[in-house]
Amino acid sequence: MTRFHALVFAWFQKHGRDLPWRRTTDPYAIALSEIMLQQTQVDRVMPKWRAFLDAFPTWNDLAGAKTSDVLRLWKGLGYNRRAVMLHRLAKMVIALGGELPNDIAAMKKLPGIGEYTANAIAAFAFRHADAAPIDTNIIRILRRVFPRHRPDARSMQLLAQRIRPNDVWTWNHALMDIGALHCSSRGHVWGLCPFAPLHGSKEKIEYRQGSRASQTRFEDTDRYFRGRIVDQLREGPMTMKRLRALPVFDRIDDERFTTLVKRVVHDGVVEVRKNKVFLSGDDIC
Ligand code: ADE
Repeated sequence: MTRFHALVFAWFQKHGRDLPWRRTTDPYAIALSEIMLQQTQVDRVMPKWRAFLDAFPTWNDLAGAKTSDVLRLWKGLGYNRRAVMLHRLAKMVIALGGELPNDIAAMKKLPGIGEYTANAIAAFAFRHADAAPIDTNIIRILRRVFPRHRPDARSMQLLAQRIRPNDVWTWNHALMDIGALHCSSRGHVWGLCPFAPLHGSKEKIEYRQGSRASQTRFEDTDRYFRGRIVDQLREGPMTMKRLRALPVFDRIDDERFTTLVKRVVHDGVVEVRKNKVFLSGDDIC
């Protein structure tokens, strides 16, 4: 262990977050949290994670659900394609015998599980000694603490190899919390930084440059309009004509509307049949 490791562990003992998925060892509950956390903030994930576990307590319950019911419960988390992938994952797990494989390479072959999520599940559910979930937050921490070494994912793996297998869980959660609380992309408050003893700075504050003015308003993005299509269909199937006529789509032309529908169909979130549009898995008469 280096001094850097010691500071990470000491910081986590004092300030680590008490998040609900850290109180379980159930690989299903942990995989569910990691998939939700891929693109959604902790505060929004917490109530949804609990609601999912109440509605679908096991892989088997989730696999047996209708895709549309999974999508209904996903409301508020965004990026609805993840709900479809999660449902496919549950079906795959059941086909494989009911348990998630305890192996990073095997997990990466499953729907909805990429490099980061496979490593996170391996670290948190299976406590794999060589699991290293590395995201931009973690790379940013390393770059700030070791600016002269230009650290990358490989450096993180080397650092992870120096901890004891029993510490894998704590090490990775600690780095996630430091990334979220102290070393975010919006700025870094060196005075509060757990690594202040390493870089010696006191009150230097760094903020990301760049203006938000040049960014597209969320309400004008394709993601916003796709969200409105899916939200509407959560209420039940409807004709394409009625969907198109909703006031929210007045701001877009036919071509864009059609492209948006094609995309949600391509993602497996929505189906179109007999001139009806509906959430995948819903019944139409
Ligand atoms: N982001 C991704 N995985 C996380 C976790 N387990 N806890 C907090 N934030 C996360």
